Amino acid sequence: MTSYLELSNITKTYGHFTALENVSLSVDKGEFVTFLGPSGSGKTTTLMIIAGFEKATGGTVKVGGLSISELAPHQRNIGIVFQNYALFPHRSAVENVYFPLQMRGVSRAKGMKQAEDMLSLVGLKGFGHRHPKELSGGQQQRVALARALVFEPSLLLLDEPLGALDKNLREQMQIEIKRIQRSLGVTTIFVTHDQSEAMSMSDRIVVFERGRIEQAAAPLDIYHRPQTSFVASFIGESNLIPATICCAGNKTAKSLALGSVDYAGADNVLLDGQEVTLLIRPEHIKLSRNPVDGRRNAFMTVETIVNYGDNALVIGRAGDIPLRVRVLGADVVIIKEGEECCVSWTPDSVFVITK
Ligand SMILES: Nc1ncnc2c1ncn2[C@@H]1O[C@H](COP(=O)(O)OP(=O)(O)O)[C@@H](O)[C@H]1O
Ligand SMILES: [Mg+2]
Repeated sequence: MTSYLELSNITKTYGHFTALENVSLSVDKGEFVTFLGPSGSGKTTTLMIIAGFEKATGGTVKVGGLSISELAPHQRNIGIVFQNYALFPHRSAVENVYFPLQMRGVSRAKGMKQAEDMLSLVGLKGFGHRHPKELSGGQQQRVALARALVFEPSLLLLDEPLGALDKNLREQMQIEIKRIQRSLGVTTIFVTHDQSEAMSMSDRIVVFERGRIEQAAAPLDIYHRPQTSFVASFIGESNLIPATICCAGNKTAKSLALGSVDYAGADNVLLDGQEVTLLIRPEHIKLSRNPVDGRRNAFMTVETIVNYGDNALVIGRAGDIPLRVRVLGADVVIIKEGEECCVSWTPDSVFVITK
């Protein structure tokens, strides 16, 4: 596939403050890319620069090989949905969706038909005559989505579009947006600060932190092979253990709290004596009364058990290292807060992070 949207060294400063620093990214045609990161990390600013509502201080934006940096927003053929991108209150749903077509000179007869079809696609057949105040929050966002898609944009930008919705509706809309995006094949950038939303919806996740891209990769790569401690801690729960590579040839690291720890592999070349961080996900640690043969074992003092019904999070310490262990509901009864237990894992659940 050829890259369709190309951001090259985008920088944005406000006075002395650098909001974006050398952001470079290639997005394929039809790809669903999610920008994920904490509040203030530069996600919206990047989206605004793509849409043309903000001007980059440096760098270029290309779509289909052509620079769009000099084009006004309405010339860019981009569909946008924001969290609070209000519908026109005095227009019915179908007239809201017709609006961008009207702006493009499409006749009312033809445009209203297209708008009705688009409302059907987003699951609002028969709701076209209603005004925004007669629609629920989720229905209003569907209308906004239809309005962003009806003119067949070359790009769809969604900035936290589900932020105002409650959990059930949110999950339903996540599935719907994915379905609609697939059926139209429209290249999409979706912004969220919700990691599970990013994991479940995306072809690729771009993790932002302090105006920089920390990592851009497929969801499972981001989860299993995070390139920085920030990515490891931002996505999923993680145990991050400081260690020193003691014998790269034997794939062994040494940690003050856990002693010598074998790892299966790493994405970078490792050198003896190198300071690293070991990642072990909580669900890869096994909790037991006694050491388990064939696994690396350590002792943990249990401090807190948080029950979630089908699973529980056991929080404790091994030496001075805090550890989190995810156990299935039935297994947690073997242990109580304040007790000491064994934790064990295998080398292939240890991932070495060098940054
Ligand atoms: N108009 C502005 N003037 C000054 N600073 C701004 C402006 N717009 C955004 N910023 C700053 O740029 C940073 C990135 O903001 P933003 O892209 O909105 O973050 P996100 O969408 O990831 O939460 C923030 O620190 C924000 O305060
Ligand atoms: Mg934002």
